[in-house]
Amino acid sequence: MSSLTVNYLGIPMASPVIGASGTVGYGLELHDYIDMKKIGALSGKGLAPTPWKGNEGVRVAETTSGMLNCIGLENPGAPWFIDHYLPEVRKLPTVFIANMVGKSVEEYAECARMLTVPGISALEVNISCPNVKEGGAAFGTDPAQAAAVTRAVKDATTLPVIVKLSPNVTDIVSIAKAVEDAGADSISLINTLLGIAIDTRTRRPILGNITGGLSGPAIKPVALRMVWQTAKAVKIPVCGLGGIMTGEDAIEFMMAGASTVQVGTANLADPTAMERIVNEMDEWCDKNNVKDINEIVGTLKD
Ligand SMILES: Cc1cc2nc3c(=O)[nH]c(=O)nc-3n(C[C@H](O)[C@H](O)[C@H](O)COP(=O)(O)O)c2cc1C
Repeated sequence: MSSLTVNYLGIPMASPVIGASGTVGYGLELHDYIDMKKIGALSGKGLAPTPWKGNEGVRVAETTSGMLNCIGLENPGAPWFIDHYLPEVRKLPTVFIANMVGKSVEEYAECARMLTVPGISALEVNISCPNVKEGGAAFGTDPAQAAAVTRAVKDATTLPVIVKLSPNVTDIVSIAKAVEDAGADSISLINTLLGIAIDTRTRRPILGNITGGLSGPAIKPVALRMVWQTAKAVKIPVCGLGGIMTGEDAIEFMMAGASTVQVGTANLADPTAMERIVNEMDEWCDKNNVKDINEIVGTLKD
């Protein structure tokens, strides 16, 4: 038996495998399907300071080796989450990370203040949201805006702050360095890649929102490349995700420099995926004579 335990942001975790935001709810349904004690942490569905309705119409479409979604960050709002879900979430035998969103720098700060409560171990800041006050481009596509959100959240909380980067940029390293300089404790990447799907019969887009975020195995090579570039450029720990379906996929991300990984779309195809992935990582370590999973981080011979 090899050791899969990690210490991420000062938080001891049973394994490096974290449930990705938007694919595990708040963990309460998944609890019936997997042994949560084996899962490092869960990142809950993105929370805003007030409830968001999300997008109208069709919200998901299957694609070759992946899926598109345009949920539109529907969520019950941080206060509702704290009153109605958090008491149950606290009973789960795993670490809980609150993923958060906002439409302005002030909203991100307000959300961070609200979510700094017992039972939440870290904040993951989704900066793929449009900045409504500054013309609607996503915070995560501009180093200055990404840094402004990071600084505001850091000032508003005592919890460790993970900034989740958007891959829809030309230079991921400039965004990563900007959020590191602004005080981020860790970076997670990647969020979904923007795409569209078309119904040739009706000549209409399949998704109600026209565009959606691509996830699943189709994005893994892009995610691995961005994790590798980012891990080389920053000193803070990197959490890698994008298309992880197997234990070996997770090992690839760790070799590319990720200290922890997240599993997203795989949970939607198979609710037992995370436990299987942890078991497969364990088997890989045994076969390859790796006694401690932390040994493989950043060992890619490049
Ligand atoms: C249905 C769905 C909802 C998502 N919701 C969120 C969200 O609320 N916040 C967030 O940061 N990422 C969200 N994501 C992005 C995932 O957390 C993840 O970054 C992305 O899907 C890539 O990983 P994967 O290929 O393993 O799914 C969502 C993804 C899907 C498929």
